[in-house]
Amino acid sequence: MATQKLKSLAYIGTFGISAFITGTYFERKFSPQHNLKNPQDSPIFSTVFAATAVSPVPSETNVGRISQIMKYGFPGLDNVRSFDNFVLSYDKRNRVAHWVFEHITPECCKPNDQVDRALSEFTPDESIHPFFRSLNSDYYKSGYDRGHLAAAGNHRVTQKMVNQTFLLSNMAPQVGVGFNRDSWNRLERYVRRLTRTFKNVYCCTGPLYLPRKEANGKNYVKYEVIGANHVAVPTHFFKVVVCETKDGQFEMESYVMPNQVISDDTPLTSFMVPPETIERAAGLLFFDNIARSKFSKINHKKN
Ligand SMILES: *[C@@H]1O[C@H](CO)[C@@H](O)[C@H](O)[C@H]1NC(C)=O
Repeated sequence: MATQKLKSLAYIGTFGISAFITGTYFERKFSPQHNLKNPQDSPIFSTVFAATAVSPVPSETNVGRISQIMKYGFPGLDNVRSFDNFVLSYDKRNRVAHWVFEHITPECCKPNDQVDRALSEFTPDESIHPFFRSLNSDYYKSGYDRGHLAAAGNHRVTQKMVNQTFLLSNMAPQVGVGFNRDSWNRLERYVRRLTRTFKNVYCCTGPLYLPRKEANGKNYVKYEVIGANHVAVPTHFFKVVVCETKDGQFEMESYVMPNQVISDDTPLTSFMVPPETIERAAGLLFFDNIARSKFSKINHKKN
């Protein structure tokens, strides 16, 4: 039966994103033909600039880098903050970012003796109003990791870049063992490895707070909050990745993982969901500046 298949195939199905999944998705994902083990397969700069509060780098350099990172569109415009090598939109109510955006290149990821993440410290982001800022004390004894949204390993060019990924505005409460330190990390490493094939990899990462059906048959969004600042614990996290091919085509991959212990042998492809599903759930539009017809592949499938 379909229910049976759903249970065995996808974590996602069991954790509530199904509410957002269109018929098309079910068709695609759970049709017998689809084998998971063997997948076939602007004007906004003023806003960004004004929001730049952290790095006193020469503004021209920074604006150039930001326009590169955000070349294919901002997913949303709420409290956008730019750092040396990534851009973030901050959700003041949940005290976690809405999204972070990275442009990942081979140069950003290659080992560099000049930087050491062990020298970085988790630091409250002073550019955020104290009412909305998360603190280390919020995470202390919460049982959750301070999980990077923009991964430290994607920013190895300077120590300052790595340091900026340790700002608490780039953190979200993540289950440690089995998620942040395991399967989520596996996904981050996979995205990093894409730079071996593609010169330009764009990655948008963020939290989701997805509804679940309760015993009375109604859907509720329920999530824990931690610490004195009530930092929201996302139910899921997403990554939408776009790779630019040499001939100017684009390939997109989009993933949703539940913020739970995930078995290490669960293939990453089983977390793929259509980008539209994430857009609806997150209230964001990804890579809006690229016509969807320009994507030669979406989630390994010919578009
Ligand atoms: C990185 O962070 C550490 C720890 O806060 C600090 O000692 C160091 O000076 C920072 N380095 C740079 C280049 O910002």
